[in-house]
Amino acid sequence: MGRQIILNTSLYFSPTGTTRRIVKSVSAGLAMRPREFDLTLPSVRDKGLSLERDEVLSLAFPVYHGRLPILVKDFLLKLPNGKRPVVAMVVYGNRAYGDSLLELFDLCRAKGYEVVAAAAFVGEHSYSHVMGKGRPDPADEERARCFGLAARQTLLGDAYLTDKALLAKAKRPYRPYPQRLEFCPTTSRRCANCLTCVKLCPVGAFINGDPKNIDLERCILCAACVKFCPERAKSIGDDDFCDDMAALAAANLDRKEPQIFLP
Ligand SMILES: Cc1cc2nc3c(=O)[nH]c(=O)nc-3n(C[C@H](O)[C@H](O)[C@H](O)COP(=O)(O)O)c2cc1C
Repeated sequence: MGRQIILNTSLYFSPTGTTRRIVKSVSAGLAMRPREFDLTLPSVRDKGLSLERDEVLSLAFPVYHGRLPILVKDFLLKLPNGKRPVVAMVVYGNRAYGDSLLELFDLCRAKGYEVVAAAAFVGEHSYSHVMGKGRPDPADEERARCFGLAARQTLLGDAYLTDKALLAKAKRPYRPYPQRLEFCPTTSRRCANCLTCVKLCPVGAFINGDPKNIDLERCILCAACVKFCPERAKSIGDDDFCDDMAALAAANLDRKEPQIFLP
């Protein structure tokens, strides 16, 4: 007998907004009653959440260094265990998604969840306007909608995904997280004190709400403050970092396509 699913609960983290856009398109394809938890801001993460019966969890997260962001992992580990279907997604900046999708799959399985469909989508890179420029674009959004539709078909049956296809692209143990970078975004004189950055920071890293004063220990270098500053007053990184990013961008100008995994 197939599953009886009527509710689509999306959980996503999206400091620069690309993951959020993918989730919207996938949800359109899934075409179920939507429930949404945007975990980007601490106020939502701090509340925690209760899960319903008869729901599919749509989990979508950006790739950080070929892995899941650490704070996302910490949040997911606290979700209740139990048998429930999941649509698992990562969004990466046109470089590589590394072990992140396998890591998400493993985390779901460890909780007793069944992954019915998985995908890696491309979004404009948080640190670049060149890598994955303008993505997701309309073609990506259509692919995401079709992926949602395919996931819906899988949900109506009993099948779920194994790790076999994912292991062709990734491996355990996962690559290690790199060492913390010893800088955080800097603010130029263009700053108009509008506080957009303070409001959008996913980790409350602005000390006393001051847009020019960032706590180095808290900042996760997600680039939300850089990408959304209306005055373009924020920038990230020293000369070495900017050179590395330019080299990375030059090596990743090709268009990577979404990768879809279905049972
Ligand atoms: C700390 C950090 C590490 C990242 N690592 C990778 C990576 O390993 N591979 C990649 O292709 N993109 C990487 N990116 C880019 C993001 O995965 C990509 O831009 C994603 O679309 C951002 O999602 P968001 O717009 O929902 O925040 C990284 C971004 C950040 C901030």
